[in-house]
Amino acid sequence: MNNNKIYTLAIESSCDDTSAAVLLNDKVLSNVVAGQPIHEQYGGVVPELASRAHQQNIVPVVDVALKKAGITKEQLNCIAFTQGPGLMGSLLVGGSFAKSMSMALEIPLIAINHMKAHILAHFIDEEGYDKPEFPFLALTISGGHTQIVQVNSFFDMKIIGETTDDAVGEAFDKSAKILGLPYPGGPLIDKYANEGNPKAFPFTKPKVDGLNFSFSGLKTQILYFVQKQVKENPNFIEENRNDICASIQHTIINILMDKLTKAVEETGINRIAIGGGVSANSGIRKTLKEAENKYGWKTHIPKFEYTTDNAAMIGIVGYYNYLEQNFSEANVVSKARIEF
Ligand code: KG4
Ligand code: ZN
Repeated sequence: MNNNKIYTLAIESSCDDTSAAVLLNDKVLSNVVAGQPIHEQYGGVVPELASRAHQQNIVPVVDVALKKAGITKEQLNCIAFTQGPGLMGSLLVGGSFAKSMSMALEIPLIAINHMKAHILAHFIDEEGYDKPEFPFLALTISGGHTQIVQVNSFFDMKIIGETTDDAVGEAFDKSAKILGLPYPGGPLIDKYANEGNPKAFPFTKPKVDGLNFSFSGLKTQILYFVQKQVKENPNFIEENRNDICASIQHTIINILMDKLTKAVEETGINRIAIGGGVSANSGIRKTLKEAENKYGWKTHIPKFEYTTDNAAMIGIVGYYNYLEQNFSEANVVSKARIEF
């Protein structure tokens, strides 16, 4: 076996993005993502439609990923795929495809935990990108997850804080919905927040023990606040959109920063790496960058394409597992919920 040149094909299909990537060792040769605009009109991901769209997308997406990488499938050394967590119907499409391909090509199959992949995306080799040193704290924030994870090595990590209800991305998207903005509303809140006053409408932060989060109370608070204001002034949202968005974003960032600060205090680890779609948020990026000077933290913010759901992050974990010969059996099952 030639360990100097390992080609990994990775497949990610946990939610509403069909993605395939090819890596040569820890470098990404291609990372193709096909989104599913069909869900926009429903204001959220419809599992049955997601599964069907994955079935339509998977073959062309893998084909393009191989072509972009400039290799043939016969050159592949292993196939990594997302085992879970995610939507069952979506996971099954990527999982079945990966299994068939590994059997046909007679190469190892490697099942990957999607949440660990969001964290280890930081180890994709990119020119100019400073990889985090172990141990570090990972803040994983997306539409489906909100976690603080202590990462001791590639294979040793533990969740030290997580949401007890909504994920932070849901807090953004549900708040946006209250304001009449289309799904997913997170990026729009970010955009309007840049023009607004973050202190215009002070929302209260939830009281949650330890390093855990809660976002459902904030959503209810925003709903009641907006309903009350609109009763008094039907144009309240239009007239104050930027300030409302800035205030919501400010509150969410404060909630995240409070818990991160506490996690740094408790663990004594001040290296922070973020991942997940919400880490695209300009306010969060700015606040974390400022924390380097303000608190002496070292913060790691990956390239945007590696923060949202993508197969390259599955590929990097696949590659490290390949080096350890951590292979999966052909009967490995996809799991909507999966132990960390
Ligand atoms: O990781 P991701 O692409 O998919 C999963 O949920 O796994 O994350 C999508 C989430 C959505 O909730 C979206 O509104 C949010 O990330 N998001 C943002 C921004 N860009 C994406 N939230 C706030 N500000 C942004 N700029
Ligand atoms: Zn994700």
